[in-house]
Amino acid sequence: MEVAKRLHGVGEYYFSQKLREIDELNKQGKNIINLGIGSPDLPPHPDVVKVLHEEALKPNVHGYQNYKGSPLLRKAFADWYQKWYGVDLNADTEILPLIGSKEGIMHICMTYLNEGDAALVPNPGYPTYRSNVVIAGGVCIDYDLKEENNYQPDFETIEKMDLSKVKLFFVNYPQMPTGQQPDKKVFEQLIAFAKKHNILIVHDNPYSFILNDEPVSLLRVDGAKEVAIELNSLSKSHNMAGWRVGVLCGAAERINEVLRFKSNMDSGMFLPLQLAAAKALTLGKDWHDDVNKIYKARREKVFELLDLLKCSYSKNQVGLFVWAKIPAAYKDGYALADEVLYQSNVFITPGGIFGNAGNNYIRISLCGSIERFEEAIKRIKNNFKN
Ligand SMILES: Cc1ncc(COP(=O)(O)O)c(C=O)c1O
Repeated sequence: MEVAKRLHGVGEYYFSQKLREIDELNKQGKNIINLGIGSPDLPPHPDVVKVLHEEALKPNVHGYQNYKGSPLLRKAFADWYQKWYGVDLNADTEILPLIGSKEGIMHICMTYLNEGDAALVPNPGYPTYRSNVVIAGGVCIDYDLKEENNYQPDFETIEKMDLSKVKLFFVNYPQMPTGQQPDKKVFEQLIAFAKKHNILIVHDNPYSFILNDEPVSLLRVDGAKEVAIELNSLSKSHNMAGWRVGVLCGAAERINEVLRFKSNMDSGMFLPLQLAAAKALTLGKDWHDDVNKIYKARREKVFELLDLLKCSYSKNQVGLFVWAKIPAAYKDGYALADEVLYQSNVFITPGGIFGNAGNNYIRISLCGSIERFEEAIKRIKNNFKN
């Protein structure tokens, strides 16, 4: 059967392909250590699981739910935004819970892009922005994030591009995969740029609590709600990636526009899960400090591993990964990642999957126990020649 044209040029997600290869290698007894994927291995807070359990035992919580999410969850998101980001959001009109922030990216593309409309996407950046723009019929215009520019958008270069068809501008800080922190001045420039060009900024903010002492929201900038919406997620901040809980925040008009699409896609989220997510949002600094202590120790091991591979990297990175430049001896990050995989049975992510500006980089996830990092280091020490 011929697939629809919208899928032309959209390949299978790199990880889904690579995981099949890793499965094959494991069947051959290789026992691959996967340092690729950013799925938190630590559990959510026990109180969160308790709420899910207790609520699920009730007889009257199993039906379809409100398309706009439970009022309790929306209120919890509003309180969370106020407490951590200092942003005022109306819980009834400016918050839309999502089944993970990834689906929000598709909803936004489907809501705003007509055939041929364009979106600015970061290179390197989360591949979903690119694929979803294409699936929605849009065209991607890359803006490069360069190490020498602290991985911030270069507005001078972007201003010189043909922006006439651009409706959306995807931005993500703390940035994945580069680990770059947000910069208040750049956020202000972004809002000014969006106003000047009548472009909607989509800020994707799932990493603000990981190894980052000061969570920042783009919506904190004066006038941001006029031109920006923000995606957020419990996947990384609360170790709930499999639960699929995210949120879209923004002006009531934007929320209603996106809801017009989304309410045709799904029929709400399981209520006990929403109530448990609301509980997670009340967790305090202690929770984040405990989780970050573990990531900090792991990051030290990752630095050690990267030293063995003769990669260079910044120690100021935040988020769930470490981004590192490969030694000049390798053609690209794919070549290095494949050598490490086949020689040492350790999988790391080639930076090129995030766009060609990432070709000379690799990315290592912090989602693994210290013992696994130690084993990976041992394997690389013993079996890797560079
Ligand atoms: C930059 C970025 N945005 C969004 C997501 C999706 O997160 P969620 O689990 O909320 O769908 C990810 C997940 O890896 C990500 O790296």
